[in-house]
Amino acid sequence: MAIYLDHAATTPLRPEALEAMLPYLTEHFGNPSSAHRFGQRARAGLDEAREQVAHRLGAQAREIVFTSGGTEANNLALKGAAWAGKARGHRIITTAVEHHAVGHSLRYLEKFGFEIVELPVDRYGRVDPDEVEAAITDRTILVSVMLANNEVGTIEPIAEIAERVRRHRGVLLHSDAVQAAPYLDLDVGALGVDLLSISGHKFEGPKGVGVLYVRHGTHILAQQHGGSQERHRRGGTENVAGAVGLAAAYELACQERRETTARLRRLRDRLATALLAVAGTELTGHPRDRLPHLVSIIAREVDGAEVAVGLDLNDQIACSVGSACTSGSNEVSHVLAAMGYPDEEARGALRLSLGRTTTEAEIDAASEAVPRAILAAREAGAALAGTSVP
Ligand SMILES: Cc1ncc(COP(=O)(O)O)c(C=O)c1O
Repeated sequence: MAIYLDHAATTPLRPEALEAMLPYLTEHFGNPSSAHRFGQRARAGLDEAREQVAHRLGAQAREIVFTSGGTEANNLALKGAAWAGKARGHRIITTAVEHHAVGHSLRYLEKFGFEIVELPVDRYGRVDPDEVEAAITDRTILVSVMLANNEVGTIEPIAEIAERVRRHRGVLLHSDAVQAAPYLDLDVGALGVDLLSISGHKFEGPKGVGVLYVRHGTHILAQQHGGSQERHRRGGTENVAGAVGLAAAYELACQERRETTARLRRLRDRLATALLAVAGTELTGHPRDRLPHLVSIIAREVDGAEVAVGLDLNDQIACSVGSACTSGSNEVSHVLAAMGYPDEEARGALRLSLGRTTTEAEIDAASEAVPRAILAAREAGAALAGTSVP
């Protein structure tokens, strides 16, 4: 059986979350907007899920909007805040390393006259909080910076950015915390954000459900119109079982965070040491301020996609070259490009991401298999080119 080391793409649904969801897929099937007892039973489950998530984010229940995932949470945050703020200004500040759910939403807004300022990052993928502040003008309405990067795991200095954004009245701060959610404390007060996105399937909850935190008093315009659900911020019958599963999984992830983080960091470091022992490899992303479950490297003179496909075909390891959303597109990572890696180096990218269910034995096996696959790919490449690898 292949070893799954692609938890940054998605995680398996944990049994406790499935168990919490099942009643809402069967006997408690009511529509939470119905006044009768069937509806009210579903409403109670949804309310409880909302309370649970709010509590863990240091938020109020009314500040939680359930969405269809991280992508929709990002779309709602950005488009919702942009359209609501249009009368005040049109300038939106972001970074060059955001997930496409942010980057492409902003590109869409650009077509309608919004000015999108994409700030550069350093070699580790970090944006400078002072540069964020320097980019703010009196026409700025929104800043969007992710909490942690999904390709290289770098953690962005959100609290420092928040401190600077707060100096400018009326400028909102959004953070995409989808990748960070299982590993970092998302207390919205401490982070200082107005809008925050998370997604159930990154922490062993179900796919197709996410949360947008909207600070009380923050005006966003709904992007999906219909009923008055989610306090008029997102029309449509709620995914009750999904919300219940997300809340159950997030609660457990928070309870276990300290222990899981320490264990994964140890396993991750062991795997990183094995990979970086191969000549011509380099860690990408910040060496310390990074998510504990993710190793991202560049191996020179190999095609990372070929290595990943080979490991999969040999039934050894499932991993990826970067974001799952761009795999197969032949596109070189915009994240690595922004970090200053030329295309030929970025092609050697590999991302291995561990999860709570990853075992020591799996890391031992991966620590042998991946270096072997890199060396084999390099030899095959050299043979094709008619040269030899020492
Ligand atoms: C940083 C980040 N943002 C947003 C998303 C999109 O979330 P979802 O898959 O729930 O739409 C992902 C998923 O890969 C992600 O890693």
